[in-house]
Amino acid sequence: MLDEIGIAPSILSADLMDLGHEVKTIEGARYIHFDVMDGSFVPQLSYGHPVLKALKKTTDIPVDVHLMIENPDEAIGSYLDAGADMVSFHIEAAKHANRIAGQIHEAGRLAGIAINPGTSVYALDSLLDIVDMVLVMSVNPGFGGQKFIPQTTEKIRAVKRLCEAHGAHPVIEVDGGINRETAGAVAGAGATLLVAGSAVFKASDRRAAMAELVQAAQAGLGKRA
Ligand code: DX5
Ligand code: ZN
Repeated sequence: MLDEIGIAPSILSADLMDLGHEVKTIEGARYIHFDVMDGSFVPQLSYGHPVLKALKKTTDIPVDVHLMIENPDEAIGSYLDAGADMVSFHIEAAKHANRIAGQIHEAGRLAGIAINPGTSVYALDSLLDIVDMVLVMSVNPGFGGQKFIPQTTEKIRAVKRLCEAHGAHPVIEVDGGINRETAGAVAGAGATLLVAGSAVFKASDRRAAMAELVQAAQAGLGKRA
């Protein structure tokens, strides 16, 4: 069902020294969101494909890899080999976005295209028919715990309209500053997969935190125009 809301907790906000246990606290998540940062496309370094490979051995929850890296064209193979179930790469970084999406599909995985707050939705135009997901950044990528950029809600609506014009139905994922206050608006605008780092991992009861986000998002769906 297209309107079904899913939560993808970002392990960037988890206790990385205890990742095996941390992922057990998020049973019921649609995806684990795995933020890869290279210290160049974004200022910080996080973790890469060896950690992904280890993570895949500890959980059955599919992993949604978000590549915030300068050269996804070169790196994509390593993340597919490490077992990524879905990979999103940035339109601002890809040299040959169409080719990368093709490689992801050849490996039998799902392809997402990520777009920064400062990039026009029209940059997605020639990719909407081939990707499985559009990842709309609602903060400037690089850090967890940032404040949601309010203009994102309108941007999600614009992505949705563009998809409709193409007759394409990629999942719309939103990433950054998602919490009980912001989930309703983004779901109402058309996002169905909500990344949440601090809103899930800073809570003592992670499953309750995820349920609250779904509830807030569903309340926003009711308000969809
Ligand atoms: C930011 C990352 C996000 C981040 C979200 O660059 O892509 O996935 O972990 O964290 P919160 O939900 O705390 O904004
Ligand atoms: Zn992310």
